[in-house]
Amino acid sequence: MSLPQLEQRLGRKFARLATNAVVGRPALWRAFRGPIQRQFDRLAPRWDSMRSTDAFAPLELALDSVSSPPVRALDLGTGTGLAAFLLARRFPEAEVVGADVSERMIEVARRNTPPELAGRVRFEQADAARLPYDDGEFQLVSLVNMIPFFDELGRVTASRGWLVFSFSAGPETPIWVPPERLRSGLAPFGFSDFADFQAEGGTALLARKGPAG
Ligand SMILES: C[S@@+](CC[C@H](N)C(=O)[O-])C[C@H]1O[C@@H](n2cnc3c(N)ncnc32)[C@H](O)[C@@H]1O
Repeated sequence: MSLPQLEQRLGRKFARLATNAVVGRPALWRAFRGPIQRQFDRLAPRWDSMRSTDAFAPLELALDSVSSPPVRALDLGTGTGLAAFLLARRFPEAEVVGADVSERMIEVARRNTPPELAGRVRFEQADAARLPYDDGEFQLVSLVNMIPFFDELGRVTASRGWLVFSFSAGPETPIWVPPERLRSGLAPFGFSDFADFQAEGGTALLARKGPAG
């Protein structure tokens, strides 16, 4: 195994370790934040070349079930912004924010922004554990291969708003949270109407804020 391969394998293991630890005890994020930020800062210049063309298939499938288009949408842990662009194309009236704790990822996302989307998509460095957004600001929040902070997701999602998680390689994704754990973490914050999806080896979970409908 070459050194870059070894580095990549260790990085994936560390991302899984951090995910499990933080989902179990969100207060541990304080310890993981710096290393995770540095890990993704390092990966940012080559992140797009590491994405498979199928990476967003589960997200696309889950979005097919979103029956009310958002006015404002948030892609959390946006990385180089690919899911934010996808949201903007799918919902042509929506304003889209892509947020990530890695400043280097945000720089790449800004550079990648197609001119036709520049007026509606913006990228901001922000920590999902403590978001700089108002209560109920977004009618749709997406997370692709991203660690969840359930309380903040409950706070920034509008009433009757949508939340979609997707994991490009299902349980093989380094940052992976089983759907039953997502459901149990989200239910106390008012999410219901859960629906599961599978596409191209990946998985997604869609939820809606508010009473089951
Ligand atoms: C596995 S990458 C996924 C990037 C993108 N969603 C994709 O699928 O191409 C995870 C991203 O989440 C970001 N991230 C991890 N923890 C975060 C947090 N607490 N707040 C914001 N971003 C975070 C990382 O910096 C990284 O860019």
